[in-house]
Amino acid sequence: MPAEEKIRVLIVDDIDETRENVRRLLQFDRDIEVVGSARSGKEAIQLTQQIKPDVVVMDINMPDMDGITATEEILKKMPFVQVVILSVQGDPSYMRRAMLAGARDFLTKPPSIDELTAAIKRAGKMAQEERERSAGTFPSGAAVPGASHGHPVGPLGRIIVVYSPKGGTGVTTIATNLALSLNDPQNEVLLIDASLQFGDVMVFLNEQSKNSVADLSPRAEELDPDIVKDVCFKHSSGISVLAAPPRPEIAEGVEADHFFKMLQYLKQIYRYIIIDTNSYMTEVVQTALELADLIVLVTTQNIPAIKNANLFLSLSDKVGIAREKIIFVMNLFDKHNSISPEKVGETLRQKIHYVIPFDEKVVNLSITRGVPLMVDNKIHPISKTIIMLAEGIRERAAKMDDIGMDLHLKK
Ligand SMILES: Nc1ncnc2c1ncn2[C@@H]1O[C@H](COP(=O)(O)OP(=O)(O)OP(=O)(O)O)[C@@H](O)[C@H]1O
Ligand SMILES: [Mg+2]
Repeated sequence: MPAEEKIRVLIVDDIDETRENVRRLLQFDRDIEVVGSARSGKEAIQLTQQIKPDVVVMDINMPDMDGITATEEILKKMPFVQVVILSVQGDPSYMRRAMLAGARDFLTKPPSIDELTAAIKRAGKMAQEERERSAGTFPSGAAVPGASHGHPVGPLGRIIVVYSPKGGTGVTTIATNLALSLNDPQNEVLLIDASLQFGDVMVFLNEQSKNSVADLSPRAEELDPDIVKDVCFKHSSGISVLAAPPRPEIAEGVEADHFFKMLQYLKQIYRYIIIDTNSYMTEVVQTALELADLIVLVTTQNIPAIKNANLFLSLSDKVGIAREKIIFVMNLFDKHNSISPEKVGETLRQKIHYVIPFDEKVVNLSITRGVPLMVDNKIHPISKTIIMLAEGIRERAAKMDDIGMDLHLKK
């Protein structure tokens, strides 16, 4: 491989010996060239700007500025650089923070030579692809046909979580119809049933899938577009579906960290990832909410549902979920009920954006037949509101793209 195509690596660690060890591990690899090293977060930012490496191998605990903050700063200034975090903490919360800061990979110290070189090569390839993409090789935001194995450089996917802190409010009905409404050949949709124990998305579609989240999520580290295509169910409408596990006990095997990594990968393949959830906040549901670009929060005119929506809003304020991410929807709306959407909006200090009418007969029939309204009854008022919701989501996603907003794959 010619020198100019080698993956250029910067090593950041405050301990001399660790830097030296990492350098030693990499010195005989013909595809990798260590182009510099830094002893602190601040020095890392400065050197990255000067020498423009492809990959930064970054420690977390450093005296002046920790590696996660340094990662954030670097990616703000140099979005093509890929950061691989190397930390003594195997703690999943560290890993999440690192990934949220935009790090490409996370290894625990001391890494094996194979682990380290594989992570650097993956990241290096990504850096080169992102450079090419921005140089105009691919139209921005468009899916890239035949994206290379393991490294699709396709759409910057948006995760939309449909959630209600009260069961039975219509989350699955909305998620399924929303997925159908958002899908088109340029904007592929994946519908994930994250109501893992008793998910019923496949029932709503009157289909059966041989695979489920439990088949894809444990392989989060080794995903490629073929594996994803293999596991996901392709519905006749064109949407892909990642079903809930066939039996509740299998759901227990789905780990939140794997789910997290899986979602991050899927964002590179699908333009919209719609996640159906259950009201009980499992770790998987929490992970989905944490990664959501938008949250469709569903309530009804029923007092417990409103009370729980209020609790959810307070909780999301506390954990730092921006209110702009929340799209508040009232389902099962009955105009004879005196609890109006306006009243609920005022009481909860959160405007209701969309109101979906109650029509038991039509919705129940669609579920019984397994034919969603969006397939054969687009003119029904329920469908029309969901189409408006989809339009609102498209607009918001486009705005996010414009301002380059992405926590996980910095553009
Ligand atoms: N707009 C509507 N009008 C009338 N009935 C509706 C409407 N939306 C949903 N339903 C009905 O409400 C019930 C619950 O819907 P759905 O399964 O979508 O809710 P959910 O929030 O996903 O429930 P769960 O908590 O069990 O997952 C279903 O029987 C469905 O037919
Ligand atoms: Mg449901």
